[in-house]
Amino acid sequence: MQFAKRMERFGTGIFSVMADLKKKEIAAGKKVVDLSVGTPNIPPAKHIIDALTQSAADPKNYIYALNDTQELQQAVQLWYRRRYGVEIDPETEMTSLLGSQDGLSHIALTVADRGDLVLVPDPGYPIFADGPALAGAELYYMPQKQENDGIIDLAAIPEEVARRAKFMVVSYPNNPVTSLAPDSFYRELVAFAKKYGIIVLHDNAYSELVFDGATCGSFLQYEGAKDVGVEFNSLSKTYGLAGARIGFALGNRDVIAMLKSLKSNLDYGMFLPVQKAAVAALTGPQDCVASTRLAYQNRRDVLVEGLNRIGWKIEKPKATMFVWAKIPEPYTSSETFTLDLLKRAGVLVTPGSAFGPSGEGYVRIALVQEEAEMLWSVKSIDESGILKGA
Ligand SMILES: Cc1ncc(COP(=O)(O)O)c(C=O)c1O
Repeated sequence: MQFAKRMERFGTGIFSVMADLKKKEIAAGKKVVDLSVGTPNIPPAKHIIDALTQSAADPKNYIYALNDTQELQQAVQLWYRRRYGVEIDPETEMTSLLGSQDGLSHIALTVADRGDLVLVPDPGYPIFADGPALAGAELYYMPQKQENDGIIDLAAIPEEVARRAKFMVVSYPNNPVTSLAPDSFYRELVAFAKKYGIIVLHDNAYSELVFDGATCGSFLQYEGAKDVGVEFNSLSKTYGLAGARIGFALGNRDVIAMLKSLKSNLDYGMFLPVQKAAVAALTGPQDCVASTRLAYQNRRDVLVEGLNRIGWKIEKPKATMFVWAKIPEPYTSSETFTLDLLKRAGVLVTPGSAFGPSGEGYVRIALVQEEAEMLWSVKSIDESGILKGA
């Protein structure tokens, strides 16, 4: 059989090597703590599960949903108003997604033709580059340098690149670098997009996971943002609903109309009980969001303080559910370090190279296990001697 060349992008590579090694270690009776994939393990609040299960018990709810219910549209509208002070027209300025991944991957098909240029952050969450690549677009990586606090330097994008670009993906708070962007960045972003006629896609999956009492907003609250782009949002991390696949795209009505048109040909909408769960999450008590945030913050503290104590110097992330850590000396390859860490300490992380060319030299550690597992990981890394170059 012969398969499409585009699938080579998802070739076997480091992830299957890691998965095989993990299996082998477990089969040999060794413990492995998996901090590689950003799968949240904090369950949804009871009122959300109740809404889902009650709706799932009704036989009428198994039809194709086709559209977002009015109830869901209003819930999203209210949430955006209450949380960010942003007004959304639910009919024309939003659509639900089967997880924000659905939108982030498919939107490229509505904007980019083969050979078009798309600007993506580097390092960046893989679908930012995979979506346009599947559409046949050419990628231009926008570095998120440490000396610039992980914020893209728009002024450094060459004029001819900006002129050619069809759309650009931006995301703060950010996975994997964890940076938060200042207001000035978003104002510059809108001006840049207007000047060059570039569509902006802002991924805001982590706006509710900002720590130490800080907060952040929405791209759409900046003047002119809706003229140039859309925001993606997700209930996966905020409400522990990753498996239910609930996301939204909101903002520019032409971009939303195109995405809705494509999606109406690909899927038939979000399962009605899942829409009910989303409504319960968005309109119900919000203390679950605060407790989820605190749980991630506590895990962060246990892990980062522990790693610093044993000699791995890492800064605490201000947001998200990830730690972005420079690999210890004498390592120079994030893949080699990741495999050694798994073999020697039983801790699985993601090599920075998986997030783009600038990710080399780093690993991403996901805060997806309980504090006890974080402590175990710190102890095991210490005992392995891997930080001492031993
Ligand atoms: C930055 C970012 N965007 C989007 C997603 C996908 O989220 P969803 O579950 O809504 O598809 C993730 C998941 O880890 C993510 O880290």
